[in-house]
Amino acid sequence: MEEKVSKIKEVALKEIEDAKDVKSLEDIRVKYLGKKGELTALLKMMGELSPEERPKMGSLVNSAKSEIEEKIKNKEEILRNEELAKKLESERIDVTLPASKQRRGSKHPLNRVIEEIEDLFVSMGYDVVAGPELETDEYCFERLNLPKGHPARDMQDSFYITTEYLLRTQTSAVQARAMMANKEKSPIRIIVPGKTYRREDDATHSHQFNQVEGLVVDEKISFADLKGTLEIFMKHMLGENTRLRFRPSYFPFTEPSYEVDVSCFKCGGKGCNLCKQTGWIELLGAGIVHPNVLKMNGYDPEKYSGFAFGTGLDRLAMFKYGITDIRLLYANDVRFLNQFDRKD
Ligand code: DAH
Repeated sequence: MEEKVSKIKEVALKEIEDAKDVKSLEDIRVKYLGKKGELTALLKMMGELSPEERPKMGSLVNSAKSEIEEKIKNKEEILRNEELAKKLESERIDVTLPASKQRRGSKHPLNRVIEEIEDLFVSMGYDVVAGPELETDEYCFERLNLPKGHPARDMQDSFYITTEYLLRTQTSAVQARAMMANKEKSPIRIIVPGKTYRREDDATHSHQFNQVEGLVVDEKISFADLKGTLEIFMKHMLGENTRLRFRPSYFPFTEPSYEVDVSCFKCGGKGCNLCKQTGWIELLGAGIVHPNVLKMNGYDPEKYSGFAFGTGLDRLAMFKYGITDIRLLYANDVRFLNQFDRKD
């Protein structure tokens, strides 16, 4: 009997030693210590022993039992640690690997230009103002000194919705709106970026395009103010070396009126394909606000004077980013838009 116990114990301990995982340890536990286990069976056979032998055998079996239990417990801990280590190793994360790239949108070149202009003018104390794209004939033309039938209306081929309503052809319409909306008739300093519409469609013209208008009305505003402002504006957008050239022109709402050219930023004024060998690029219309316009919109031309300017944002963006076809700005082609991925 004694021999049997130590034999069982020996085999059990060996099996425990060799166990490969927690599952087989559990099988071993059942095999020896379970209800029908080998040691349990021995305990049940105690009845057959003489009373003197029983306590001795009892303690022998019990100490074998607890030895096996102890061994299983230790082995289980070892196995669990090993399994954990294996798991950690296989799931290890290399934090030095490059992250998977998040695709994100980019700011449209037109919006970049608009924001740049807004930042500049706001820093000089201007307000950014908006107006309706579906405009009345009155604000788009009449209040800008262009009565019905005025020949200068031919300069802008328009989309009329009714005889009174049209898609605005110029952000200049907001000049009249701003002056009319100002009940105190106090000084005005605004820029108006926004969409405009004309019946045009080729590589340099789109039926929908963007302009920014500028208007300053105050006492003693002169051409010097206009010139200084446009110089700051253009140098900021196109580089410090940019020079300006004012050519006499005609707009019904300004007198005198100018076409403003900037020195070609590609060749610096020497002449190249961009400036068609002239060294200059026509970029803005501008002038001193016509007294009629001030009067019609409630400002006393004896007290107030003003300057105004307008420029095409699409052209500006095209020059700034070297875009050759205006239609790219409206085609929503990601291959084009991706090239303006945010750097900031
Ligand atoms: N609105 C004119 C156009 O679209 C541009 C312009 C010229 C705006 C002279 C002005 C200005 O404010 O003073 O052709």
